[in-house]
Amino acid sequence: MSAIELHGVTHAYPGSPMRFDLRVEPGEWLAVIGPSGAGKSTLLDLVAGFLPPDSGTIRLLGRDATRTAPAERPLSVVFQDDNLFPHLTAERNVALGLSPTWRLAPKVRDKARQALARVGLAGLENRRPGELSGGERQRVALARAVLRDRPILLLDEPFAALGPALRGDMLALVAELRREAATPPTIVMVTHHPEDAREHADRMAFLDGGRIALVDTPAAVLSGADPRLAAYLGNTTSRT
Ligand SMILES: Nc1ncnc2c1ncn2[C@@H]1O[C@H](COP(=O)(O)OP(=O)(O)OP(=O)(O)O)[C@@H](O)[C@H]1O
Ligand SMILES: [Mg+2]
Repeated sequence: MSAIELHGVTHAYPGSPMRFDLRVEPGEWLAVIGPSGAGKSTLLDLVAGFLPPDSGTIRLLGRDATRTAPAERPLSVVFQDDNLFPHLTAERNVALGLSPTWRLAPKVRDKARQALARVGLAGLENRRPGELSGGERQRVALARAVLRDRPILLLDEPFAALGPALRGDMLALVAELRREAATPPTIVMVTHHPEDAREHADRMAFLDGGRIALVDTPAAVLSGADPRLAAYLGNTTSRT
């Protein structure tokens, strides 16, 4: 049983037809790279259920999820924009990952505080997003996803706006949380940084023009001579 299976999944924004076939195995960490507009976010939106496919089948953990509502899917998403509620404290924002009610049960509150401590934010539970730095806000969003403890974690460039050192720290934290999990989550991570994929991912998919052009180990993808990949990487990225 694969964690994620896309069979002939199509979606057509005006002028941008896309078609995806993909399998991601349980516990695997897949990095997704490709030019702006290639369809990386669209791919994640289809898996998450924010976008209905025009045709094709999506299976998650062996079950047909093609028409399953996003909240019912066995996954969490962290976006580039942290998606926090500005009027709620960090603790409440995290707690919403578990329970969408306004009353905060003590058990839920404890779990939210633990999740915040786990991402290094102990003591900041009562701050609102406006009182946190961009990096801290992304940690709150990550804590919310971690708390949900779903088998699949989708990351759409959540650390892209952070500096290189902090981005590295955040990825190391995701890797550590994954190692600690009784059952490691399946991760699909969109990134514009091939070195992040090389360090953490088991496989890498290169998207181009709404298709998965290449999928293999990061080393194999990055060492390949595909001209589309070369054009994407340019001369600025070392490919050693
Ligand atoms: N809501 C929308 N309506 C119409 N077209 C859209 C919409 N969202 C995305 N598109 C188009 O679909 C294509 C793929 O967009 P997508 O956001 O998946 O790209 P991406 O690979 O995530 O790019 P980036 O690296 O810039 O985030 C683009 O050509 C984009 O203009
Ligand atoms: Mg995108």
